[in-house]
Amino acid sequence: MALATNMRRNACLVTNWLVASGKLNFLSVGFEHASYSIIRKTNGLRIFGDQLEASRTYATSCAKLSDEIQKENSDSNMLVDSFGRMHTYLRISLTERCNLRCQYCMPAEGVDLTSTPKLLTRNEIMRLANLFVSSGVNKIRLTGGEPTIRKDIEDICLELSNLKGLKTLAMTTNGIVLARKLPKLKECGLSAINISLDTLVPAKFEFMTRRKGHEKVMESINAAVDLGYNPVKVNCVIMRGFNDDEICNFVELTREKPINIRFIEFMPFDGNVWNVKKLVPYSEILQTVTKNFVNLTRLGDHPTETAKNFRIDGHQGTVSFITSMTEHFCAGCNRLRLLADGNFKVCLFGPSEVSLRDPLRQGADDNELREIIHAAVRRKKASHAGMFDIAKTANRPMIHIGG
Ligand code: GTP
Ligand code: 5AD
Ligand code: SF4
Repeated sequence: MALATNMRRNACLVTNWLVASGKLNFLSVGFEHASYSIIRKTNGLRIFGDQLEASRTYATSCAKLSDEIQKENSDSNMLVDSFGRMHTYLRISLTERCNLRCQYCMPAEGVDLTSTPKLLTRNEIMRLANLFVSSGVNKIRLTGGEPTIRKDIEDICLELSNLKGLKTLAMTTNGIVLARKLPKLKECGLSAINISLDTLVPAKFEFMTRRKGHEKVMESINAAVDLGYNPVKVNCVIMRGFNDDEICNFVELTREKPINIRFIEFMPFDGNVWNVKKLVPYSEILQTVTKNFVNLTRLGDHPTETAKNFRIDGHQGTVSFITSMTEHFCAGCNRLRLLADGNFKVCLFGPSEVSLRDPLRQGADDNELREIIHAAVRRKKASHAGMFDIAKTANRPMIHIGG
């Protein structure tokens, strides 16, 4: 077991070195059971080819990553874990509150919310965001709960987008109040938007979210397109017996608009009544799409992406799959999470959390806070446990951990 772990660790370090040194220009991020499959090479190298499974490996261009990693490797301040993964993407949960009650996110009775004094203030968020950006984070995603219900959301966007070194300021939102807020948010520097929508049928929306609002979400998607966001990503969690009959209707949305539909495998979280029968695996969703749409072409995904991306001939938009359950993508993970209560989490599924709020409030200086962050990153595991282990050890409700 220890040997296998070491081999995996070494494989990842070798991968990073190969990518960094330009010897490897393609790698697969589709692997399972924590085995790293590296598939394409240059200079006559063939590595770990026995782990290659042709049916599910897709070449991913790493040319851009190679440059980035070379630059990043030269800076010891970067957030690198013991497997050589660079962490450049921070998700900040701005609130645990939400104006919807999605069934897959939380139990019917709701969740206990952290009391306001225990939540990070805007100044505290900025102080920590600054530290992360000065440690190489170049993309921040604002999440929740629902980030748009935070009253100072515009100010937060403005301040974050002014951080030197930040390239992307993104948000994941349920779209309920987005249409009216988006013009201002765009002015404040919000550069990418992901909107959650699981059904195109208003009555089903009300059942799933325990609230009305389907029309408002559609308005928000259209507003984002009109404001020039490209692509506008639409997150759709597919659940058997609920919306698996709508897959093709969702794909149709990509025909005329620069929308990226992302079909997401249903994940277990505390209280969301996950059950394997409700999980529609990626392979099955893909089959439905390929049966109904001709000329689906796999695009080269960035190795750090959660999504497997496809284009369809004649469609302006694209279709993607987020396969957390059946083909996890931990090998390329560059994500970190700062929760609304100031806890820091290095893996969505991992149980470990470390408070940054407490030392910050006790007067820790920047170097001390940086050391806590670096130490947590160094402890990050190679991958989450297999699908059924996750199911057994469901995490805190999604609303607490910001997606
Ligand atoms: P992009 O930056 O646009 O690629 O978005 P994203 O996929 O990082 O974020 P988004 O908030 O849109 O999340 C989409 C889906 O990916 C959700 O179901 C998330 O739970 C899942 N997801 C996001 N981050 C992680 C992660 O670190 N691990 C896993 N396993 N799933 C994640
Ligand atoms: N499984 C998969 N995705 C989920 N999301 C929320 N709960 C789940 C779940 N149980 C998605 C939301 C949102 C993103 C942050 O996470 O739809 O788009
Ligand atoms: Fe709110 Fe998102 Fe959870 Fe739905 S999934 S209840 S929109 S936080």
